[in-house]
Amino acid sequence: MTPTPPAPVPAQVDDAPRPGLFITFEGGDGVGKSTQIDRLATLLVAAHIEYVRTREPGGTELGTEIRRLLLDGGHVDPRAEALLYAADRAHHVTTKVRPALEAGSVVISDRYLDSSVAYQGAARDLGPGEVRDLSLWATDGLLPDLTILLDAEPGLAERRRTARGGKDRLEREPGAFHQALREEFLALAALEPERFVVIDAEQDLETVARLVAVNVARLVARRGDGLRGEDAAGSSAVEADSPAAAVREAVLRRYPALHVSELDG
Ligand code: TYD
Repeated sequence: MTPTPPAPVPAQVDDAPRPGLFITFEGGDGVGKSTQIDRLATLLVAAHIEYVRTREPGGTELGTEIRRLLLDGGHVDPRAEALLYAADRAHHVTTKVRPALEAGSVVISDRYLDSSVAYQGAARDLGPGEVRDLSLWATDGLLPDLTILLDAEPGLAERRRTARGGKDRLEREPGAFHQALREEFLALAALEPERFVVIDAEQDLETVARLVAVNVARLVARRGDGLRGEDAAGSSAVEADSPAAAVREAVLRRYPALHVSELDG
């Protein structure tokens, strides 16, 4: 008798509540993610909120090795590429992201699973659904609380990249690839509007930073009660009454023209 093959199990999302908040930044190459993450980090420091800044690929020691294999080497078969990104993500989530979230930190990651869905799934034609399931399996279903998509037409990103210097392997892909990528990111955002915020990255840096700050303040107002604070001496105490109040005060100090009501969940 031939054994029956197991039925495919759809990948599950882990929506158990956690004290920390997981925020990811996504977008094509050169849209300004690092600069915006710097700004957000400065704001969290001002609010005395503990955070961990990380990235994919390469957020761990093993990940740094995987990153080197992926980006600095020669041709990588598309399925091997998808599996290497998933391997980086699995290790990153178990050893760094989940422990920080359990400890009540804000975790800010420069790229996460949506990059795989867009780059490997859509732009490389492996199938967005399969690639998403692979990442959900790899991470035991961890999705971000907030994903900030910095959207720009590929031409702008290209100009910024050229101004910035050397290109890695994926950055050398032709224009159609970057166009497909942008469309897939926007489609993903449209599918999960409660998780994504799309920001036009062609606006000036300050405007983008303010929009990021507003959206993070709203998230903390809704779901940030479990966050840990850190005062200047390193002890855990939020200066204001609550993480939400601390972040709101820091944002209003930085952007005095904002109205408090704009920052509530
Ligand atoms: P990154 O370091 O963010 O580069 P950049 O600063 O240019 O945006 O990402 C490295 C490259 O890896 C980038 O071209 C996107 C690609 N990538 C994938 O193809 N799949 C993935 O799952 C991830 C996380 C990144």
